[in-house]
Amino acid sequence: MSGAVTVRAPAKINLSLRVGPRRPDGSHALSTVFHAVQLDEVVTATAVDGDEVTVEVRDEHGGSVPGVPEDAANLAVRAALLVRDEAGLGSAGAHLAVRKATPVAGGMAGGSADAAAALVACARLWATGFDQQRLLALAARLGSDVPFALVAGTAIGTGRGERLEPVTMGPRRLHWVLALAATGLSTPAVYQALDDLRADRPVRDPVTDPRLVTALERGLVGALGMLVDNDLQDAVFALRPALRQTLAAGLEAGARGGLVSGSGPTLAFLVDPRRSAPVVRVLARQPGVADVRQVTGPVPGAALVG
Ligand code: C5P
Repeated sequence: MSGAVTVRAPAKINLSLRVGPRRPDGSHALSTVFHAVQLDEVVTATAVDGDEVTVEVRDEHGGSVPGVPEDAANLAVRAALLVRDEAGLGSAGAHLAVRKATPVAGGMAGGSADAAAALVACARLWATGFDQQRLLALAARLGSDVPFALVAGTAIGTGRGERLEPVTMGPRRLHWVLALAATGLSTPAVYQALDDLRADRPVRDPVTDPRLVTALERGLVGALGMLVDNDLQDAVFALRPALRQTLAAGLEAGARGGLVSGSGPTLAFLVDPRRSAPVVRVLARQPGVADVRQVTGPVPGAALVG
């Protein structure tokens, strides 16, 4: 076996994230609206002699990426090993070169996108013949957000996020301003903070607001801006109080809506592209904001680029 396969997969934000009770397996029942945005993770899988699967992670400028393991704990390596096991190729080796565009532990599923890209790349590199259904089943074993990175676009996710139903959007692209934090948040810690905040209340099964889905289908951007929501937001604010002010500042500067993405700390603001400049400017000045990015969505899922 020889050669190299390169695959890109997108990051996501959640336009709505409703969190139900904790399930017996420790995760929470979700009803969420995933939306893939134009921040690409790129994974190149190269066949190597021997049976090792190794990984090297770099940022967009070729620099190292603190906080991402470069060993068997890396989700892309776990994806490669899962493909190898499922295909019965015990002795195949590969090197994975991961180029990250997505903030680490930022609530944008960058690690899940790496895993989705590695699944597709290794399935091709090792000529497994796995179809999309097979890859989706493997993805669900790796993490709640990995299946979405395979299909992307805009989709409602239920279960712990792995059961997906696409949302057909009009031709309109959505424009987002992202406020990135210098340091990430631990997803389990955010879910635990939510459980603590709700400890004295009954928690209902999660349901996505049908008006939000209608707004997406009809391209009603103003309505969408008012309907975006995230049950994890107060838990994220409890852990990072300054973000409450950052969110308010982006909305005051003219964003049509804004919310914490996933388990944070990234904030996503829906903007009119002709009026995004003040939002970008104001956010860049907020304490704790390390970078401001403008992206559009939706974008397609994991795909070969070479
Ligand atoms: O599925 P994933 O590995 O991305 O989840 C990471 C952690 O986030 C889980 O171990 C759990 O603590 C929390 N989580 C959760 N409910 C979900 C998804 C994630 O509690 N639906």
